[in-house]
Amino acid sequence: MPRVLLILGGGIAAYKALDVARELRRQGMDVTPVMTAAAKEFVTPLSLEVLCGSAVHDELFKAAQESQIGHIQLARSADAVVVCPATANLMARMAHGLADDLATTLLLATDAPILLAPAMNVHMWQHPATHNNVQTLQKRGVRFVGPVEGEMACGETGVGRLASIESIVDEAVKLLGRSSALSGRKVLVTAGPTREPIDPVRYISNHSSGLQGFAIAESLARLGASVTLVSGPVALSTPPGVLRVDVQTAEEMKVACLDALPADVAVCVAAVSDWRAESQHANKLKKTANGPPAISLVENPDILATLSQCTLRPTLVVGFAAETESVKDHARQKRQRKGCDWLLANDVSKYCFGGSRNQVHFFSDKEEEETWPEMDKKALAERLAERIAAFFAASV
Ligand code: CTP
Repeated sequence: MPRVLLILGGGIAAYKALDVARELRRQGMDVTPVMTAAAKEFVTPLSLEVLCGSAVHDELFKAAQESQIGHIQLARSADAVVVCPATANLMARMAHGLADDLATTLLLATDAPILLAPAMNVHMWQHPATHNNVQTLQKRGVRFVGPVEGEMACGETGVGRLASIESIVDEAVKLLGRSSALSGRKVLVTAGPTREPIDPVRYISNHSSGLQGFAIAESLARLGASVTLVSGPVALSTPPGVLRVDVQTAEEMKVACLDALPADVAVCVAAVSDWRAESQHANKLKKTANGPPAISLVENPDILATLSQCTLRPTLVVGFAAETESVKDHARQKRQRKGCDWLLANDVSKYCFGGSRNQVHFFSDKEEEETWPEMDKKALAERLAERIAAFFAASV
């Protein structure tokens, strides 16, 4: 039975956590309730205990609770953690790594995926401090559901209401959709474009959205892998449970990837800019009577080739190939040239950057390639993640 740690923060929406608890149990989950001191001002521990069928944990060093199950064990044994309602204060403490009560200690000690269902006054939600904390938490892979727009207990209207019970439970169920096929495996994924500066306001880049790489990171994490996602500048939120490292340039991406080694698998999905300006101008280039400036380019490091050939080479190195003609021939040569194990090639003249669908040819050391049908990028990510899991299952 999947085990959910349900943490109640102190807010007027805390009473709705009772319905969340009831629904999670109805869906077959074992729910262990935890309350902050403030939460107990809004809901009685007894109501929660009755609905969860389990004692409420509320104090860090309460002898009776520690003797039943120590707080670290409580944090480690959860398959998912749901915080409902997540108050501004609780999120701020999480963002800063504080562990000054049982709830925040559990949130710091757990390695289970975390779902926050925030609820607060609209001004508190919109405050830059809260906004920054939410961004920090999202970057760490914490998942959010809501808040939604509507009238609040204080009488104001705006974004700040707790999401519906149904959507909180749906997200919690998704969070638990992980399996352990890749648990204990460390995976590195690159995604997005790189951005190579010319001067303080201009750069060389490409149209990569990062969608495929982020979907792959998410699918691998769902199979239990410990995933580091090295991403160029994209407008995507971090998949749950994934450690994200943001970079701008190819050189920074290479350093971040080498820092993430050793790893069992590397999946290079990033559309790394092949070239960068030889020198970066300190000031903005101005128009002159001599016409446009000549920008001399130098080649960027090839991250896929570097990972395929380095001393700490991951057991399985997977590349992608973006081609516009002679897709299969170019892809076959590219796999050989870079030294990766698998290569997924697509025709970017048909499946342009930014779209939600993809169609690839899969190359390995076998002579014949496989042609995968056109599918959603998420479905492709799942297929690849399962293939990776099967590779390791066959090798043990
Ligand atoms: N790649 C990389 N570092 C680079 C260039 C590409 O890691 N500097 C990786 C990509 O992440 C992808 C694979 O290499 O997995 C192929 O990328 P692609 O753009 O198709 O090929 P290029 O190496 O750029 O070759 P070409 O431009 O000649 O097609």
